[in-house]
Amino acid sequence: MLLRVKDLSVEFKTSAGNARAVDGVSFNIEEGKTHVLVGESGCGKSVTSLAVIGLLPGNASLQGGQIEFKGKDLTKLSRTEYREYRGSEMGMIFQEPMTALNPVVRVGHQIEEAIRQHRHKSPLKNEDPFKRSVELIDQMGIKEPEKSYYKYPHELSGGMRQRIMIAIALACRPSLLIADEPTTALDVTTQEQILSLMKELQNDLGTAILLITHNLGVVANNADSMSVMYAGQVVEEGPVSEIFQNPCHPYTEALFRAIPSLTSVPGSALHTIPGSVPPAVEFDRMPSPCRFFERCEYQDERCFKKSSVPGHNSYCRRET
Ligand SMILES: Nc1ncnc2c1ncn2[C@@H]1O[C@H](COP(=O)(O)OP(=O)(O)OP(=O)(O)O)[C@@H](O)[C@H]1O
Ligand SMILES: [Mg+2]
Repeated sequence: MLLRVKDLSVEFKTSAGNARAVDGVSFNIEEGKTHVLVGESGCGKSVTSLAVIGLLPGNASLQGGQIEFKGKDLTKLSRTEYREYRGSEMGMIFQEPMTALNPVVRVGHQIEEAIRQHRHKSPLKNEDPFKRSVELIDQMGIKEPEKSYYKYPHELSGGMRQRIMIAIALACRPSLLIADEPTTALDVTTQEQILSLMKELQNDLGTAILLITHNLGVVANNADSMSVMYAGQVVEEGPVSEIFQNPCHPYTEALFRAIPSLTSVPGSALHTIPGSVPPAVEFDRMPSPCRFFERCEYQDERCFKKSSVPGHNSYCRRET
C-alpha cells in the first residue's frame, strides 16, 4: 500500500472556537491507483489532502491519526523532512493554477525550479533541467514547447496553465499526485483533456492519484476507489464500481440523485439535499446518532442499530 491514512483528525483554531474539520478519516491508496474524495462543500476534502501533503495552514493542527506513506508515518516528520517528500515523492495540483503559479516568472523556469529543488534525489539527476522542462511541456501536449517555456502564466489559457501545474507536480516523478478540484475552473472539453492527460501520465509513470472532485461523472470514469465525506467524516468507502452500483449510505444516494440527467424532463426541478452541512466549529454538538441524521430522508428508530454491508463499508447505522 502506498498511502494509509488512519483516524486522521484536524482542528482549526478560529475566533468562534475550535473547528474539527476532519474527524477520524481513514482511507488507503494503492500504488498507481486513483482514489477519490467526494462530498459537499465544507466536508473536509481539501483539509484532508493538505494534511497528507503537509501543507496545513498555521491555525490548523493534527489531533491524531497516522499518515503512512511507503511505510513511514509522515505525522512524525519535521517541516524540513516534509519538504523533501513534497515535490519528490508527492506533487499537488490545485483548482486554480493562476493562484498557484508565480505570475512574474516564466512557466519554464517554474518547472525547472521544481526539478532543481529535488534533483539530488531524482532518478533524472544527470539530465539537463532546461531540456527536461521543455520535454515535460511537450509531454503535457503543449504546442511549440520551447517557445511556451518562455511564456508567463497570463499568456496561457486556463487549460494550458493547468498543464504547466501538472508538469511541475510531476517533474520529479512523484509516487503520489494530489489533485484538488483540478478541472472545475475549466470548460467541459478542456476538463476532459486534462483528465485524460492525467490518466495517460499515470499509466506511463505509475503515479497514484488522490483526486478531489464534486463531479461524480468524473469519478465514474477516472477512479478505482472512493471515500464519500460528510461533515469531516467518511460515511462510505469502497471500489467505485461497487458504490456506483449499490450506494448504501443515504448521503451517497442523495449525492447520486443530485446528478443532473440528460433524460430528465425539461423544466423539472433538480434533486437537491435539503439543509446544509453542519459547520466544523459545532463538532462537539453534531447531529446524532449520525451527522447526516437531520437531513436524511430515511431517519427513524432503525438508525440507532448498526448494520454492515458486504463489498464495501457504509457507516450508516440504519438496520437494512
Ligand atoms: N484556514 C481555515 N481556518 C478555519 N477553518 C477552516 C480553514 N480552512 C478550512 N476550514 C474549515 O474546514 C472545513 C472543511 O473545509 P475544506 O476546505 O476541507 O472543505 P472541502 O470539502 O474541500 O470543500 P469545497 O468542496 O468547498 O472545497 C470547513 O468547515 C471550513 O470552514
Ligand atoms: Mg476544497
